[in-house]
Amino acid sequence: MRFKILKKLLNQLKTPIFDVIRTHAERQVTSFHTPGHKNGQGIDLAFKDFIGDNTFKVDLTVFPEVDSLHDPVSCIKEGQELYAELVGAKKTFFLLNGSSMGNQAMFLAAFKPGDSVIISRNAHKSAMSGIILSGVWPIWIQPELDSDFDVFFDSSSEQIEDALNKFPEAKAVFITNPTYNGIMTDLEKIAKLVHNQGKILLVDEAHGAHLGFNKKLPGSAIQCGADLVVQSAHKTLAVLSQGSVLHYNSEIVDMNKVRKVVSLIQTTSPNYLILASLDVARRQMYENGEKLLDKMVDNANYFLSTQDKFKKFRFLTKADVAKNGFNLDTLKITINVTETGIEGQVLSEILAKDYNIQFDCADFFNLIAILGVGTTKKDLDCLVEALLDIEKRCDGHLESNSINFPELTTEMVFSPRDVFLSEETELVSLSDAAGYISAQTLTPYPPGIPVLIPGERITPKICEYLQTLDSRSIRVSGQEHKKLEYLKVLKV
Ligand SMILES: Cc1ncc(COP(=O)(O)O)c(C=O)c1O
Repeated sequence: MRFKILKKLLNQLKTPIFDVIRTHAERQVTSFHTPGHKNGQGIDLAFKDFIGDNTFKVDLTVFPEVDSLHDPVSCIKEGQELYAELVGAKKTFFLLNGSSMGNQAMFLAAFKPGDSVIISRNAHKSAMSGIILSGVWPIWIQPELDSDFDVFFDSSSEQIEDALNKFPEAKAVFITNPTYNGIMTDLEKIAKLVHNQGKILLVDEAHGAHLGFNKKLPGSAIQCGADLVVQSAHKTLAVLSQGSVLHYNSEIVDMNKVRKVVSLIQTTSPNYLILASLDVARRQMYENGEKLLDKMVDNANYFLSTQDKFKKFRFLTKADVAKNGFNLDTLKITINVTETGIEGQVLSEILAKDYNIQFDCADFFNLIAILGVGTTKKDLDCLVEALLDIEKRCDGHLESNSINFPELTTEMVFSPRDVFLSEETELVSLSDAAGYISAQTLTPYPPGIPVLIPGERITPKICEYLQTLDSRSIRVSGQEHKKLEYLKVLKV
């Protein structure tokens, strides 16, 4: 995807939400509105001392001066329009409950109960919430595993083409791009395949809010032609946690439906600090995005260039994923720990406790460092030093834990929504569960991909796999008892 700088007609230097709340704070208005701390007058003093006065002066509720998130007419409307223009979308909605809410909104906007969607099994759990809320039938794609690094690839364009041919009834394709590890698929090609069949492309770009602002990085989902795109601006841009955006750029999905579902699930008490942070981050990308991200890419490349210093840690590179036809978002660094003999989660704890370094995510085999616009070269030097120090203490090798990951059944007997809402469930012993319909989601870590989804037929291979995991004490999220002795199934 070639990077395109679109000519801007609006004044992208404006920050309408930030300006309004700052002016409001300066006026020292007497508050008879929520929240109850009243401009911070009633807040715990130690907390206020630590956080600072202004936070509470701009922690407001909805009134005309500061605009409404549900029916914006002034500063929020303008902030959203500026954001949409910058990224090249027809419309942008600000979200205050992360991409989790954005994924739910995309499902509710694109589907009616009974529709079906092609979706990769490594989608975030909020996509599963979207499936349950919307009543859609998932058609699962099993992602390929890179056995060298033990990370999952994204859905490839070939897999999507194949699924579109096999399941012409699918109304849409849902892609997670980039993945948590920064692996990126050929989204431009996928968009063409999907649109050629008159279907909808939904993209969870939670980890890619920085894309599209720098030529050295892959293009954004909007630039590639997706219909609806959700981004956790807070994950890589300088935005407060939860601050996210839903971009609309569709000829097929009804924009008013998107507006309605966003309003259906969004809070009526918006946090204006988060909204203002979206405003200033957008201006920052307009003014300095290219330069800032150049620096980040240089920082990431600098870190990767230290690979020669290490004997036990291996870094995932563009060349590694290119072998399988994928691209890599440079701002995610996957550090393979297999040769240290220590599990990634344990190393993550060691880094936090002994070196004051906190990772976003770690699994059995890898640490994943998420860089953002605030990452400095000094931060990366600290990490290099810490890893070199840890290496001295390690000797060993982790055996592969993928334990013949089973073919995940795509026999969805009931829709996840029907099973989620059903009270007709029972527990059966794991050894007898084959043939029953799962009434729960079970996700072992690693690899973090659900082996069972509500509504799916349980296969003997899956039972066997779960028994192996249980015997190796591997954590299975969704498990309701200490031991995985029983599975929750639909009563027959
Ligand atoms: C791929 C993906 N999508 C969606 C989300 C949810 O994003 P948020 O934390 O902004 O709700 C996450 C969170 O980590 C994610 O990894």
